[in-house]
Amino acid sequence: MRLADHLLLLLVGLLAFSHDGQGHADEHQQEDPGTGESSPSLEVAPSNTDFALRFYHLVASQSPKSNIFFSPLSISAAYAMLSLGARSDTGTQILESLGFNLTEVSESAIHQGFQHLLSTLSIPDDKLETRVGSALFLCQNLHLLPRFLNDTLGFYGSKVFPVDCLDLEGTAQLINNHVKEETRGKIDDLVSRLSRDVVMVLVNYIYFKGLWEKPFSRSKDYTEDFYVDEKTVVKVPMMYQDKHHHWYLHDRFVPCSVLRMDYKGNARALFILPDKGKVEQVEEVLTPEMIARWNNVLQKSSFYRKLKLYFPKFSISGSYDLEEILPKLGIRDLFSGSADLSGITTQGSLRVSNSFHKAILEVDEAGTQAAASTTLTTAFLSVPRDRYLLRFNRPFFVVILSTDTQSILFLGKVVNPKKL
Ligand SMILES: *[C@@H]1O[C@H](CO)[C@@H](O)[C@H](O)[C@H]1NC(C)=O
Ligand SMILES: *[C@@H]1O[C@H](CO)[C@@H](O)[C@H](O)[C@H]1NC(C)=O
Repeated sequence: MRLADHLLLLLVGLLAFSHDGQGHADEHQQEDPGTGESSPSLEVAPSNTDFALRFYHLVASQSPKSNIFFSPLSISAAYAMLSLGARSDTGTQILESLGFNLTEVSESAIHQGFQHLLSTLSIPDDKLETRVGSALFLCQNLHLLPRFLNDTLGFYGSKVFPVDCLDLEGTAQLINNHVKEETRGKIDDLVSRLSRDVVMVLVNYIYFKGLWEKPFSRSKDYTEDFYVDEKTVVKVPMMYQDKHHHWYLHDRFVPCSVLRMDYKGNARALFILPDKGKVEQVEEVLTPEMIARWNNVLQKSSFYRKLKLYFPKFSISGSYDLEEILPKLGIRDLFSGSADLSGITTQGSLRVSNSFHKAILEVDEAGTQAAASTTLTTAFLSVPRDRYLLRFNRPFFVVILSTDTQSILFLGKVVNPKKL
């Protein structure tokens, strides 16, 4: 009996926020440039958002007290790319589990959507650095079908590197070096060792470096208590600013405050701060609709006002074994004996052995859509009770959005900012 040859999938995500010296306060507000109604990337945006939240809730239910941080876009793009080589049910199962309804959107529209999305994100911007991409590392004796090579290059810009898989350490080193370079040195130890039966490694990465439109000033940092839960208090470096206007609200319907913080360029963050003791209650209603609703409302001038803002300086990361998580979201065949990846190669049967996703978030002084489908009116929303003050000294949610592609780049929950 011939053993199936193994494919290893590695995804990395990284969100780095770094200094640009003392930023200039800039009170002007910028409209989203917007992409046209027919923009192909908007075809995939709702499904990607839907997948992001399903992934989030699964992970949150498995470890409710942990920090969560991942890049749903990186996961969706990598698996959509892999579906190019999957045949029979394996392929449709991947796309359906990623949130696509194949009676409504064709496979080619999905891949064109990702193509547009990835190329939009990669447009060089001197204020915002986003790098997304993927690479295939192939053992020399593996021949990929020309169609798969053409499509992964054309739609997903994937690079191909032949490697000598007998040299387990050398190959791991090569992969790590590639990832390290693409993530500007932030992730340098993605794989520790490769298993002997691996014949192909797919790496997908995203690197995002944003600068706050309204940065904090370094001199105002101090240490403050952060209330992880009723029993746990940690000390965190807290940043402070009180001179800037921001969009923020207190939701009367959901017990939380929501702050929109813009980056320079086409990205923004929503920080959702549950009222004391209300994390679970807010988490329950964290849906695509709710995020769209906050995002839409937080463009209205009535929610734009001066704010005293306390925000921790921190760094968290998330690591996920996707071969454990994705079958629970419907991608089953791919990780089982019935995987059909005959669109990648006809040399033996390929299987995915492991799939690993890692993401890092760093926030400091300088830095780090939404569908217009909301129907809820602003009647439920008000400015925070203590009108001009928001203190992020307890667990909160993070949503990082690319505004022109209406995509969630990163999603997470900061429970304990002292836990990497
Ligand atoms: C897919 O779309 C079709 C047509 O709009 C609809 O009838 C069907 O219920 C949808 N399937 C799923 C699983 O949502
Ligand atoms: C090659 O990829 C492009 C997408 O970049 C696609 O439009 C074209 O049909 C592909 N050609 C073949 C022969 O598969």
